[in-house]
Parts: sequence; C-alpha cells; structure tokens
Amino acid sequence: MIQNSAINGLRVAVTGGTSGLGLALVRQLTQDGARVAFVARSAGDVEQVTTETGAIGIVGDVSRKHDIYPTALQITGNLGGLDVLINNASSLGPTPLVPLADTDCEDLEEALAVNVVGPFRLTKALLGALAAAAREGRGGTVVNISSDAAVNAYPGWGAYGASKAALRHMTAIWDEEVSDAGIRFLSVDPGDMDTPLHALADPDADPSTLKRPADSAAEVIEAFLAVRPINDAIEQAVSA
Ligand SMILES: NC(=O)c1ccc[n+]([C@@H]2O[C@H](COP(=O)([O-])OP(=O)(O)OC[C@H]3O[C@@H](n4cnc5c(N)ncnc54)[C@H](OP(=O)(O)O)[C@@H]3O)[C@@H](O)[C@H]2O)c1
Repeated sequence: MIQNSAINGLRVAVTGGTSGLGLALVRQLTQDGARVAFVARSAGDVEQVTTETGAIGIVGDVSRKHDIYPTALQITGNLGGLDVLINNASSLGPTPLVPLADTDCEDLEEALAVNVVGPFRLTKALLGALAAAAREGRGGTVVNISSDAAVNAYPGWGAYGASKAALRHMTAIWDEEVSDAGIRFLSVDPGDMDTPLHALADPDADPSTLKRPADSAAEVIEAFLAVRPINDAIEQAVSA
C-alpha cells in the first residue's frame, strides 16, 4: 500500500465517520497510513466502517454531554495521543428545512448541540492531548467543518446556518487564543457534496452536479497539512 509520508503515523480523530465526508476522510487517512479513530451514533455503521478500514470505531453522540469524556478517552487511549481532531458530524436542524418562524426551538437547540456545543466540548476534552502533541513537535490541529451557510443567509437554513456561523467564529477565536501553544484551528467549507445530508436538505438536487465526498476529503487533508509544522519535524517526531 502506498502511504503519504505527511500523513503516515499521524493520530487523527474524525466525528461522523460513517457517511459522506467523514467516511471519505476515514478511508483516505487510513489508506495514507494515519492511525484513525472515528465517532458516530449507529453501532452497526461503526462496526462496518471499522471492518472496512481498520480504524478505531467509537459509538457516541457528540451532542450528548455524557458521551464526550468516554469518547475522548477512547480516542487518546487507542491512538496513544492525538495530533488532529476533525469535527465533522452535523445536524441540519429541522427537516424538511423551514423558515425560522416555523422552526421549533428544540430543532434550533439540536443544531447548536451537534454543530457548536459538541465540537466545543470534545475540543476541550482533547485540548491537553493536542497540546502534548504540539510540545512533542508533532503539531496539534483542529479542523471544524463549516459550510457556505455559515456566511450566506440562505432562507430556510436558519438553524443550520446560525450554528455553522457560530462554529466558524468560535474556530477563529480558538486559533487566536491557542496558536501560541502550537495548536492551530481552521474552518473548512467542503462545498456541496453528494451525501445523505445534502439529499435530506435538497431532495431535488441533481447528484451529478455535486462534489464527490472523496474530493472534498482530499481538500480537507490538504488544508490541515498546510497549517501543520513542516513535514521533516513531524516525521522525526513520529519515528522517535
Ligand atoms: N453535504 C454537503 O453538501 C455539505 C455542504 C457543506 C458543509 N457540509 C458539512 O460537511 C460535514 C459532513 O456532512 P455530510 O454531508 O458528509 O453528512 P452525512 O453524510 O449526513 O454524515 C454525517 C455523519 O455524522 C454522523 N453524526 C450525525 N450526528 C451525529 C452526532 N450527534 N454524534 C455523532 N455522529 C453524528 C452520522 O452518523 P450517525 O447518524 O450514525 O451518527 C454520519 O456518520 C458536516 O459538517 C456538514 O455540515 C456538508
């Protein structure tokens, strides 16, 4: 198997790793030699992806407070630390999409719980491991998956858009606050992809006009490699 030297040996956690972009990331990263742990709620899907890719599958719900520390412990325990966290799992809020005036408060709360508070909690739980990776010269990186709905006011996308805007701004603040400790945060908008989430949001879209999740995964990987320490330093730390 050909491995990507910039990825080989990296310890990466991906939330929402059983479908769409998250699954494409787990596949690409494991193929390139990373040690990967991923999280999703459906135990059957987690088992299937574990069998296919060899990655560590964790059954958990990022919106549930009590799932966060067990999830973080399984990530660091199985990977022996953490170099890259990708907060990718997401909720659309109400489906079918509705205007804000018709959005139930509970649907807004769910979008915020999955898309903002969950990534915040998981990041906090893993910050020590990421700081340790940075001190060891391996870099510590958090990628929060964003959306064009974070910056454009699309009618009907209120709960999702507001949550993604909050996540995007929080990402920028995290980066200002902890980049001195060697931990970098970035938002990546993967573009419109042919995934179950997109089909739920826009059932009439023509899939042939949408990006393949594998192409977006390659762009996400390229984006986080660009902010990480130079490859030589990582290769020395990984092989030490
Ligand atoms: N698709 C697009 O066109 C598009 C465009 C812009 C941005 N994005 C963003 O790209 C990311 C990936 O989207 P996608 O289209 O690939 O989604 P997807 O195909 O629906 O996959 C979502 C993944 O997240 C998991 N998940 C959902 N809720 C979870 C929770 N509470 N806790 C843990 N895991 C959870 C799902 O598994 P379980 O259901 O088993 O938990 C699944 O593995 C999201 O952040 C989305 O906002 C997508």
